[in-house]
Amino acid sequence: MKVAVLGAAGGIGQPLSMILKNQLPAGSLLSLYDVAPVTPGVAKDLSHIPTDVEVVGFAGTDASEAVKDADVVVMPAGVARKPGMTRDDLFNINAGIVAGLSRAIAQHAPKACLCIISNPVNSMVPLAAEVIKAKGSYDPHRLFGVSVLDVLRSETFLAEEIGVSRQAMQVPVIGGHSGNTILPLLSQVLNGEGISEARIDELTKRIQNAGTEVVEAKAGAGSATLSMATAGARFALKVVRGLLGEPGVTEYGYVEGGSAYAKFFAQRLEFGTAGWKRTLPIGTLSAYEQAALDGLKGTLEGNIKKGVDFATEWLKTN
Ligand SMILES: NC(=O)c1ccc[n+]([C@@H]2O[C@H](COP(=O)([O-])OP(=O)(O)OC[C@H]3O[C@@H](n4cnc5c(N)ncnc54)[C@H](O)[C@@H]3O)[C@@H](O)[C@H]2O)c1
Repeated sequence: MKVAVLGAAGGIGQPLSMILKNQLPAGSLLSLYDVAPVTPGVAKDLSHIPTDVEVVGFAGTDASEAVKDADVVVMPAGVARKPGMTRDDLFNINAGIVAGLSRAIAQHAPKACLCIISNPVNSMVPLAAEVIKAKGSYDPHRLFGVSVLDVLRSETFLAEEIGVSRQAMQVPVIGGHSGNTILPLLSQVLNGEGISEARIDELTKRIQNAGTEVVEAKAGAGSATLSMATAGARFALKVVRGLLGEPGVTEYGYVEGGSAYAKFFAQRLEFGTAGWKRTLPIGTLSAYEQAALDGLKGTLEGNIKKGVDFATEWLKTN
């Protein structure tokens, strides 16, 4: 497997690359790319860890060599939130970065599974889809928005709430990756714990605002990086396991298709040798969750349109 990390010198990129160096299957190639000049140094640093994963690093404005023929590309390139900002506020800066990198991937790694971490994920994935489509290499089964941090947060908060091991928790989170589009299906995990509807509402809102908890606690120095690196690695390693033919590997991710609710939707995916091979049913929802699902549709559709509209304009001049 060749796995490329774009934005590899950043707050997410460095720990994500470290986890991949430690956990990718032996014989893999880890290719790091960032505009920051330190990137070859990050690769050199990681190369001293004794695993059978080769690491190379590229800096500069040209991603082509870094992504060439990659099987998986993980993209945390861009800028992160500061206090008072929503994920949507990042759109104008990150959209151009994601468009440019998506074009490089479409040209130099047309078969790659692209996992987008850059925010706002709800818009960046449809944007990337349009750019890749314009190069004729779009396959919805190979494009993912990484929303799995919402799953990690739900697992942690719910395990704390009901007093069980965090490791034992598996919480479905569907919809998208910002604000009210993040919909944890707590009813599918709770089993007679007697948690009131008001408390479920509080927990749901805490999960939806958990990114802001980190942004405020870091007080201007960035957003979630270490938990996100863990989430991104969990996702990318599952994509790799699917590509290598391991059956039954699943995770939540934001993709095009498989949902009656929106064109792009976060849902449980089963991975295969060519990306995600099927989406799994969302299961039974409580009345609270059904109302939230009906309520998020408009926001998600607006986010999707914003990405598509940007790409349409960007493609006219690039
Ligand atoms: N999906 C999620 O759940 C989630 C969670 C947290 C953060 N994020 C997002 O991830 C992104 C990265 O966050 P971070 O904390 O690592 O930010 P960061 O600023 O620490 O790192 C971003 C890196 O991207 C690099 N970069 C910028 N333009 C680039 C380009 N054109 N090509 C390659 N690299 C480029 C920068 O040099 C920097 O090293 C942000 O958009 C943030 O909002 C997503």
